Amino acid sequence: MRILTGLQPSGKLHVGNYFGAMEPAVKLQEEGDAFYFIANYHAMTSVRNPDELREYTRELAVDFLACGLDTKKAVFFRQSDVPEVNELAWILSSVCPVSLLEKCHSYKDKVAKGISPNHGLFAYPVLMAADILLYDSNLVPVGKDQKQHLEVTRDLAGKINEAYGEGTLVMPEPIIRENSAVVPGLDGQKMSKSYNNTLPLFGVEKPSKKLVMKIPTDSTPVEDPKPTEDSLILPLFRLFADDAAYAQLVADHEKGGIGYGDFKKRLAEAYWDYFAPMRARREELMADPGFVDQVLAGGAEKAREAANVVLDRVRKAVGLA
Ligand code: TYM
Repeated sequence: MRILTGLQPSGKLHVGNYFGAMEPAVKLQEEGDAFYFIANYHAMTSVRNPDELREYTRELAVDFLACGLDTKKAVFFRQSDVPEVNELAWILSSVCPVSLLEKCHSYKDKVAKGISPNHGLFAYPVLMAADILLYDSNLVPVGKDQKQHLEVTRDLAGKINEAYGEGTLVMPEPIIRENSAVVPGLDGQKMSKSYNNTLPLFGVEKPSKKLVMKIPTDSTPVEDPKPTEDSLILPLFRLFADDAAYAQLVADHEKGGIGYGDFKKRLAEAYWDYFAPMRARREELMADPGFVDQVLAGGAEKAREAANVVLDRVRKAVGLA
């Protein structure tokens, strides 16, 4: 069983990336043949500075390794080290209706925000489908915001199989965990780099904790019970705390007599402590850049090998070979 996921190196990773994709990916590497990659072609749709793209790519590699990606179990590589993905993207483009891409929320949202709609942004889901289908992936752990892209991927795989024969491409399934499908940001919208509402995965202690202390709350007086619905503190705390600590925080909301400042302090501590082991591992990795280079070079070789098996099959099926 092949498991695959990718993350864009388009800025600092945040808690949403971790719980939506990285943590499930780290767990799943125990259960199959994992392929995890850094989607640097995709990041080109938003990062224009080459030094920045290189830096974010390297940082993402270090961060994912620090979070438990095990190079003995998973193949870890840069998307651009397997340029064959562009060939499959072209083949998929040839069966992809324009209307399918016009419906994609992430494209529509970006255009609505005033981002100029270049072709890369429009064709983004086709390249993502190629990422997945190029490795015969069965399972794709992602956050809910990628669900529609997975539907496009399945749609395109179906069209290829229909046109060129069943079994030309493997049909993948998304894995979207219910409890962290959409990690909320500090303003209650989905946590996202583009909304400026993120809690960094590896930030600097004081400013990161300060972000938590600034979470907006209502004006319930200290002595009164605090509402638990629509709370921004509770769903975030849930991610970092065990059942007992979470139950205690809910009980303290309901009891009254404790202010939001206290709850936020508990959240800030839980968040900071949760990532302590990963931070320590990250320090070690940063001191050993040769190791990261070696991992990515080895990953590129293995990924390319696997990609060529699939691409040869597809080339034959469509009449290119
Ligand atoms: P990206 O880089 O935006 O996000 C990486 C992963 O983090 C998840 N995520 C979240 N999950 C829960 N709550 C949130 N607030 C949250 N924010 C982000 C995303 O769902 C994603 O799983 N298109 C992809 C990258 C990609 C890819 C692929 C993924 C390219 N090719 C092939 C899987 C397979 C993206 O932009 O992810």
